[in-house]
Order: sequence, then structure tokens, then C-alpha cells
Amino acid sequence: MTDAQTDTKKPDPCSFILFGVTGDLAHRLVMPALYNLAASDLLPEKFCVVGIARKATSADELRDGLMAGLKKFATRPVDDAIAQRLLECVTSIEADPKDPESFDRMREQLDALEERRQTGGNRLFYLATPPDAFAPISRELGRTGMLRDDGTAWRRLVIEKPFGTDLESARKLNAELLSIVNEHQIYRIDHYLGKETVQNILVLRFANGMFEPIWNRNHIDHVQITVDEKLGVGHRGSFYDATGALRDMVPNHLFQLLSLVAMEPPTRFDAHSVRAEKANVLAAIQIESETEALHNSVRGQYLGGTIGDTIIEDYHKTKDVANGSTTETYAALKLTIDNWRWAGVPFYLRTGKALGIKRTEVAIKFKQAPFAMFQSTPVEALAQNYLVIGVEPTEGIALQFNTKIPGPAIKIDGVEMKFRYKDYFKAEPSTGYETLIYDCMIGDNILFQRADSVEAGWRAVQPFLDAWRNAGSDGLKSYKAGSEGPSEANELMKRDGRAWRKLS
Ligand code: BG6
Repeated sequence: MTDAQTDTKKPDPCSFILFGVTGDLAHRLVMPALYNLAASDLLPEKFCVVGIARKATSADELRDGLMAGLKKFATRPVDDAIAQRLLECVTSIEADPKDPESFDRMREQLDALEERRQTGGNRLFYLATPPDAFAPISRELGRTGMLRDDGTAWRRLVIEKPFGTDLESARKLNAELLSIVNEHQIYRIDHYLGKETVQNILVLRFANGMFEPIWNRNHIDHVQITVDEKLGVGHRGSFYDATGALRDMVPNHLFQLLSLVAMEPPTRFDAHSVRAEKANVLAAIQIESETEALHNSVRGQYLGGTIGDTIIEDYHKTKDVANGSTTETYAALKLTIDNWRWAGVPFYLRTGKALGIKRTEVAIKFKQAPFAMFQSTPVEALAQNYLVIGVEPTEGIALQFNTKIPGPAIKIDGVEMKFRYKDYFKAEPSTGYETLIYDCMIGDNILFQRADSVEAGWRAVQPFLDAWRNAGSDGLKSYKAGSEGPSEANELMKRDGRAWRKLS
């Protein structure tokens, strides 16, 4: 994410080495994003995609599979000429971290290929693999010297989510990676940062004069961050049952939203300053005791129901979900940020699967005006002053305020001022990965997570993970698929005299 349109430049020549090339992520997001970059003429002049698979696949076979994937998942109509040009860059190499010699062979093949394709030795290793492969692959890349960045060519390592499963495993993975490469070579992806509306939070806050003076505890009552999904767990039972809503969404996606909303202004728009401020605010989240964590959270698991035309079965009947599973499919938390700006301003976070609506938003609730002068209007009839940053499905910003109803008497009603992206800007539909992949290629890591941020995120959720694990099924609530989630989540707000924004 460069800070001026005119800075959009072609990346250096490079090899894009894709581990997990036959997997879902590569087909669904990475290749369609590369296609979109190709269509926007933002791929390097000299470029190759090296698909790494554990079992031998011919380049032709691989290209056919990728073409089929593109046809299925592309976000815009596929232009055959552009797709062909991209696929001509694709080759295949077999390597398996369980077979170290395959990495020695891979190094030789890669050297020869780079010579032919004139990619200058610049390499982007993209690990679109299951998380347990991150460390073994990186180790082999390190051992064979393929990641060595000696100043003549760059070597970068892209790691997908989830980065660890708790604080300890994230620390271990960071330590392992940092024993192989330097921090500036690591690009820890969180696809939320590829969303325009999420990136826009920085611009909204810091490129406008009117928000920042009131962006603090003197004017803000609380912040709500909601990521509700309609889909159930579907075919991901095995991954999800070991993960749960909290691990899957909170230390990564919801904390990205939280850190952009709550961070201090960075001194410069560069990776060092922005990432430092994001890490600072995550480190300022109050670490709760297990008792406090139980008090400040609600977790739930969905029961069957119907959402639109889709029938969703009980979570615990999902394929590959353990009998009697206590994994949460819904999580709501109240967090406190211990710093000067946010003291006394709670942040309420909620996320869940199989809910009645798909909605991602950040709602900033301003303090109520002293309504004493409007004595005939009941306070509950007045609009709450919310600034709502809509991420999905409505991309935009809305401001709610009170206004006078026309007529002789002073009657007040709440209205909304709305900005919607689609009304102002025409953007080609994208996967959300384009900016992230482009940034990896130009070496801009502003949108990627630093080691300390990842650990600060896990540190803040660890008490909830521990408390819930120790409580087992005690306190696990049920909710019906298609509902708003467990009713107890409302209590979390109600006891503070607040309420979630309604699903609509
Ligand atoms: C992924 C989670 O990281 O994010 C999924 O693993 C979740 O469970 C998805 O559905 C949500 O992403 P988005 O962009 O649809 O909000």
C-alpha cells in the first residue's frame, strides 16, 4: 500500500514460489489475485510462478488445474489471452519437507529456472499450506540457502494464517522463523488488511481533521466490532473443531480492525511507524485473569436451523466434529485498552458462524449529548450517535445523528448520513489479495503483521482460551442457526447499560 497513486510501479523481476499450489487457497484466492494483477499490468516484466507440490505433477497438468480454478473463482470475466500469458509463467517442482533431498534438488532446479527466466534471483516464497507445514518448509528453505538474502537479490517468505494456535506456539513459530530469516523478510498475511474498507480506516482517521480531536475517551462511549457470518462450518469440521471462533477470528481479523481504530497516529505512513503503533495498542489491551475473562465473555455453539433456503445442521453433527465438542462457533468479548486515549472505553467484539446475517462492521458510539433541553422527547426515542465503518456487505461509512422533524413542534428523529464506496468509485471486483501480493513483490510490509503484534494479540486472548478450556461445557451457550447468536451476549452489554447494534 504505497502512499500515492503515482507510486504504483511494476515490481522487480521475481519468482513466485507457491507451496500448496494444488490446494484450495491457491485456486480460490492466490491465482485469481495474480490474474487480476496481470490484467492490471502489475506483474513484473520477468516473472515465473513455481508451483511446489509434494507429489510430482507435470507443468501441463498443473496449468490445466489452475486454469479450471481461474474459470471458477476469478472475480472478473477471464480474458483467455491474459490467463494464457500468466499460465505460461507456471512451472512445477516437487518438494516435500519430509524428504530433505527434494529441497536440495529444488534449489538446483530453481537456480536453473531463474537463469532461463531472468528473474534476477528475487524470490517470493508463498506458503499456502496447512499451518503445521510452515516451520518444516522454512527450515528446509533455510538449510538449503534458498532464503539467503545477500543484498544482491531479495528473498521473502509469506506466511498465511493461522500463525500459531496460542501464545506459546506463536512465540515458538516466530523464534523458529527468525532463526532462519530476518523480520523484514517475513510477510505474515491477514486477508482483512487486503480489504479496501479496512485500509481506509487509516485514511478516515488521519487524513481528515474532524475525527481525530474527538477520537478518545472524552467523546467516545464504546466501540463495537462485529464480524457475523451466515455460513456454518460446512466441510471444515476438522480444522474448525480444533480452532473455534475465538482463535479463528479474534487475534487476527478482529484485532486488525481494533488496532487500526485504536492506534495512535503514526509519525509517518511507513511500515515501521504504522506497525509500531499497531503493536503498541495491542500490547495495551488489559490482560485479564481467568475469572475476569469468564465474566467478560460469552461463547456459544449453534444448533440447526434455516438461513434463507439453506438448512444448517447442529454444529456437533457436522462431519469431523468430535462427539460432545465444546468448541465455540460464537464468541463475544469485552476488552479494555489501558492507555490514556482509551481508559474507561470498552471495546466489545463479537463474531460467529451460522448467524442470520453476514455483516462486518466497526461501530463507534459517541457519548450522549445532555438532552435536558428537549424535555418532551424521551431519551430512548433519540438516535444514538454512531459512526459506522461498514466492511461487508455494505462498504462505506455512516454517521447517525438527530434531526428535527419538520413541523411547528420540536420533535426529534434519528437520521443517517451515508457514504457508500460503490456510489463514488468504480473498482473492479477483487479477491482482496491483490494489494497484499503486490506489496510483497515491491517489499512494502506495512499491511503485514510484525512478530510482536502477533504475540500481543495472542497474549490478550490467552486468558479467554484458558478459561474456556478449563470450564469445558460449563458456560457454553446454544443459539439457533439464523439467529443473532446466544441471548447471553446481549447481557454482556446490558449490564453496562449498553446494547449491540441490531442486525439489519
Ligand atoms: C477466515 C476464517 O480467516 O476468515 C474463516 O478462517 C472465515 O472461518 C473468514 O469465514 C472470514 O473472512 P471474510 O473475508 O469472509 O470476512
